[in-house]
Amino acid sequence: MLQPRIAKELTRIMGDRVLLGELDRAYYSYDCSFFARQNHYFPDAVVLPRSVEEVAAVMKIAFANRIPVTPRGAGSGAAGGSVPVQGGIVMDLSFWNDIEEVDAENMQAFVRPGVVHAELNKYLAKYNLFFPPDPGSTRMCTLGGMVANNSSGLRAVKYGTTEQYVLGLEVVLPDGRVITTGGPQCRAIKNVTGYNLTKLFVGSEGTLGVITKIRLRLWPRPAARGIVMAVYRELDQAPQTVLEVYRAGIMPSGIEILDESAIKAVNLYRPEINLPDARAILLFEVDGNPASVEWEGREISTIAARRAAAVEWSTDPQRMAELWQGRGVVAAAAAKLRPGGTRIFAGEDVSVPLNRVAAMLEKIRALSSQYGIPAVTYGHIGDGNIHTAVIVNPDSEAELAAAGRLVDAIHRAAIECGGVTTGEHGVGVARSDYSAEELGKSLAVMRQIKNILDPEGIMNPGKIFPRPKNAGAGTKPAQSQPITQHRS
Ligand code: LAC
Ligand code: ZN
Repeated sequence: MLQPRIAKELTRIMGDRVLLGELDRAYYSYDCSFFARQNHYFPDAVVLPRSVEEVAAVMKIAFANRIPVTPRGAGSGAAGGSVPVQGGIVMDLSFWNDIEEVDAENMQAFVRPGVVHAELNKYLAKYNLFFPPDPGSTRMCTLGGMVANNSSGLRAVKYGTTEQYVLGLEVVLPDGRVITTGGPQCRAIKNVTGYNLTKLFVGSEGTLGVITKIRLRLWPRPAARGIVMAVYRELDQAPQTVLEVYRAGIMPSGIEILDESAIKAVNLYRPEINLPDARAILLFEVDGNPASVEWEGREISTIAARRAAAVEWSTDPQRMAELWQGRGVVAAAAAKLRPGGTRIFAGEDVSVPLNRVAAMLEKIRALSSQYGIPAVTYGHIGDGNIHTAVIVNPDSEAELAAAGRLVDAIHRAAIECGGVTTGEHGVGVARSDYSAEELGKSLAVMRQIKNILDPEGIMNPGKIFPRPKNAGAGTKPAQSQPITQHRS
């Protein structure tokens, strides 16, 4: 429980934008993860700040009283990153959604953390500019969350992840100090002055401070776009085509795969999409000027035709939308594979070396049948980042436990082949048990950085760093009741 004195102080600063009721606190115990589904950690209070002064004032109170603070955006995360596992204060930044400035000549924008990704790109269209990363949750996720998790999505193949577009950040540190990384006045694109603190905060998952403003680099919108669809009779032929396209010197803007189970799920969910019955489908997106798009599309088609049963190339907007539709709905469709089934977000974004993708896809299939739990596989094959939608019977405790073991086996297989447990969705709580193995000695350096910036350990505690041994991995931990006491 929050001490009444603290609740009063928060209310003095935030007015009615402090939530203390049971229902509000329950709402903020969730993100999209399997972890949040299995465990219910309520915050003691929720604040909805809309200025840097408010954030700093709340942090000062939290720092002085050693109260955990978990910043969050839309809660579209899939790794438990915004679940307040030690209670305390949840800081919901999603209401602070101003696009403060677009400096079109300097190709940058200044935004507050609550701006929704799709809204930003809609707004930028009139400047003929865009922010390239394109997460599946574009209509929901916020820029603050994207920066905190270094999100990516469908265009990372050519354009890279969010980190490549963050030029500077305003951050409120755990003790309430406010800094601007990259320099408070800076509007330069290139900047090698001092340590790159901007990159330190990108992907830090709210464990080092609260992001209150983002200076984003923007790109010119490409004039043309095209899509190649290739249909395969053998799953392992699809990753071969991906390698051959790169070898031919072509960098598509996106390369996505749907495996047999994903194709089935899409056709059950939306029969009108009518994807061809196959072991795998690849979708290549190319963009740029019209002549290069045409050339790249034709080249990819020729390369794909050596292994694929069918290939289609289109630059027609309506046909492209149709070709892309299957990928667009697959996340929602996945559960259709099993009547009464539920998709869980766990083990869902491993990332492996490009030349191990074929082996990883086979391994996921083998593990899914070994554990007797269906898994729909799709995702960003162009960067080795595979999504596994594990479909469970939510009423079976035994199956939920088995799903935890399946997910663990998927994670371990990724690490064994030189990959990582998370290429996109972050460590949060769900992958924190693998951090020591994945990071080696650099984990200790991360701890040192964490301790310097957050000496009281109040910033989103319980994330990234491994949990105590008995806490369990992706399955129900020993303690699942709300923690309502902070450390003061
Ligand atoms: C996607 C999300 C799940 O790619 O990352 O759809
Ligand atoms: Zn993704």
